[in-house]
Amino acid sequence: MSKVFVTRVIPGDALAKLRAAHDVEVWDGALPPDPAALRAGVADADGLLCLVTDRIDRALLEAAPNLRAIANYAVGSDNIDLDVARERGVAVGITPDVLTEATADLAFALLLAAARRLPEAAGAVRSGAWRTWEPAGWLGADVHGATLGIVGFGRIGRAVARRATGFEMTVLATRQTPLNELLERSDFVSLHCPLTPQTHHLIDGDALALMRPTAILVNTARGGIVDQVALAQALREGTIAGAALDVTDPEPLAADDPLLGAPNLLVLPHIGSATRTARARMTEIAVANLLAALDGQPMPYPAG
Ligand code: GLV
Repeated sequence: MSKVFVTRVIPGDALAKLRAAHDVEVWDGALPPDPAALRAGVADADGLLCLVTDRIDRALLEAAPNLRAIANYAVGSDNIDLDVARERGVAVGITPDVLTEATADLAFALLLAAARRLPEAAGAVRSGAWRTWEPAGWLGADVHGATLGIVGFGRIGRAVARRATGFEMTVLATRQTPLNELLERSDFVSLHCPLTPQTHHLIDGDALALMRPTAILVNTARGGIVDQVALAQALREGTIAGAALDVTDPEPLAADDPLLGAPNLLVLPHIGSATRTARARMTEIAVANLLAALDGQPMPYPAG
């Protein structure tokens, strides 16, 4: 029986399988463990089930001498120093596939909401500002037939492209179209690449300047892919028409972050995979990764 630390209460029943085989401690705080609590949790753990909110860096890994397996409850793994994990022989797993369609749905929901100004229009109803059917009120952008640029054509990017074909959109993807050309030609740009040193601030002031003044940026990937100072400026100056973000850097943004004061901005609390089914299946995959690695087998869904 190995010791496993789980950094939050997670949905679904699969954790019972882990409890049946191992000695499992679950952090049941409403917020993630702070760095000291995380260090204490992994001090004698053989396995760790962690979230995107947990930073698994060299210091943390060195504070976990017995650790053999990390199951990240996410498809991304940018919160984990994979090089140090590899160096220390710690297997790392992720939860791909099961959240692809949910995340693509959310990207499309953001795209539609920003194009048709749903938050603003709904706000007008609630505040009483809506008085009558307005011939020129809340005019938005056409989604049907527009051009969608997809940055990162992996599982989720391709799932977004499938949805776009139903809207008869022209789809450009970074796999076939150079990024600059994609930015220049797209009415909507949706980000689906992982956050790596190469993609950090990929969408900076220069990239935003290439986009159309009518274009909308959608980000369901990672906040760090976008230079948020440049984005706030681009929204204020009308360089682009709007942005719809499920992810920011940091999360959450401070209440006085200048980005939140920018116009035509919709921000969600990182809910890309937040469907009941996706989250329960993520638990199953994370548990399967841990069970395999703690049993000396390869993880079914390794990172990297
Ligand atoms: C969530 O952001 C994930 O990577 O699954």
